Amino acid sequence: MSIQARTQKAESLLRAAGILPVVTVNSLDEARKVSQALLEGGLPAIELTLRTPVAMEALAMLKRELPDIVIGAGTVLTVEQMQQSIDAGADFLVTPGTTAEMASALAQADIPVVPGAASPTELLTLMAHGFRVCKLFPANAVGGLAMIKGLAGPLAELKLCPTGGIGEDTAADYLSQPNVVCIGGSWMVPKDWLAKGEWDKVRDSSAKAAAIVKRVRG
Ligand code: 3PG
Repeated sequence: MSIQARTQKAESLLRAAGILPVVTVNSLDEARKVSQALLEGGLPAIELTLRTPVAMEALAMLKRELPDIVIGAGTVLTVEQMQQSIDAGADFLVTPGTTAEMASALAQADIPVVPGAASPTELLTLMAHGFRVCKLFPANAVGGLAMIKGLAGPLAELKLCPTGGIGEDTAADYLSQPNVVCIGGSWMVPKDWLAKGEWDKVRDSSAKAAAIVKRVRG
């Protein structure tokens, strides 16, 4: 698949998701239950971070057991992790920031990719590789809505998935921006809810997030 086709596919995956929960799990059971709760709440796609030892195994397990969920591997920091995520069946890849080595490797990966960046120069470097859909991270800390509005003029071809510091209270404002294809965040899946097995809370928060997408996007 060409990079143009992959970037279009990344855009359509993210647009269909609207809100992408950023999920970090500590066990396979947690992965299964949190994904099920998110799906039941109405969010069909997740970013599963590779921040815990069980993450890669969880990714492969979820792809086998819950084929209805679209799963992006997140916090992909190295070429090795990129390859392992593809082998585990990831539907797409997300990076929090992107080294030159990773940008080249991701440009060749035969899978939709949402590379991360935090500034106009970093975004332009990714665009030079052919990417047109990028994660803006950490979105709130680097300027939030003002930054996103500021990027819309000069980087008119670029679509963003802002993530970092967004919550239920600000989600609709972010999602309403014309250059925002999707927003990411962990507010639907905070660590303590997962640790205590509070799946009802995940389901309710996911349902509220899905309602925000519906309200903003129609
Ligand atoms: C990420 O990796 O994208 C962030 O951890 C999500 O940011 P948040 O926890 O501030 O929502």
